[in-house]
Amino acid sequence: AVERTLSIIKPDAVAKDVIGEIYSRFEKAGLKIVAARMAQLSREDAEGFYAVHKERPFFNDLVGFMISGPVMVQVLEGEDAIRKNREIMGATNPKEAAAGTLRHDYAESIDANAVHGSDAPETAKQEIEYFFKADDICSRS
Ligand code: CMP
Repeated sequence: AVERTLSIIKPDAVAKDVIGEIYSRFEKAGLKIVAARMAQLSREDAEGFYAVHKERPFFNDLVGFMISGPVMVQVLEGEDAIRKNREIMGATNPKEAAAGTLRHDYAESIDANAVHGSDAPETAKQEIEYFFKADDICSRS
């Protein structure tokens, strides 16, 4: 089915000037960019976005990293978009990410891991709504 998923290009990848390369990977895989904006997240924004991880030991470092510079946030649309985006990203820990995945190619560490992508339809819906109003999304399916 055609799905939408939320993608974030994290501060490390924005700083490396690989937004274009990452967009190109999405587009070549049939994932269309249907909404996008750059943002400098506040601590509150990042804590709210990652609220499910609040009790995890890595939460403070994760939030600190996500506010260390601007991020690029986009909605990707396409057939099987959630799974496809996760395949393009590779494993959360870049040391475990397969060759040819974004995290293998651009990430340095489990925190500075280049990209975020929603993990399931319910979280995709919540995460998209966290960053975009319905009017901001230009469906192309
Ligand atoms: P992301 O997909 O953005 O979701 C939560 C983030 O927490 C994850 O990517 C990692 O960047 C970061 N993180 C740091 N340590 C861990 C860990 N041990 N397990 C999972 N995520 C972690």
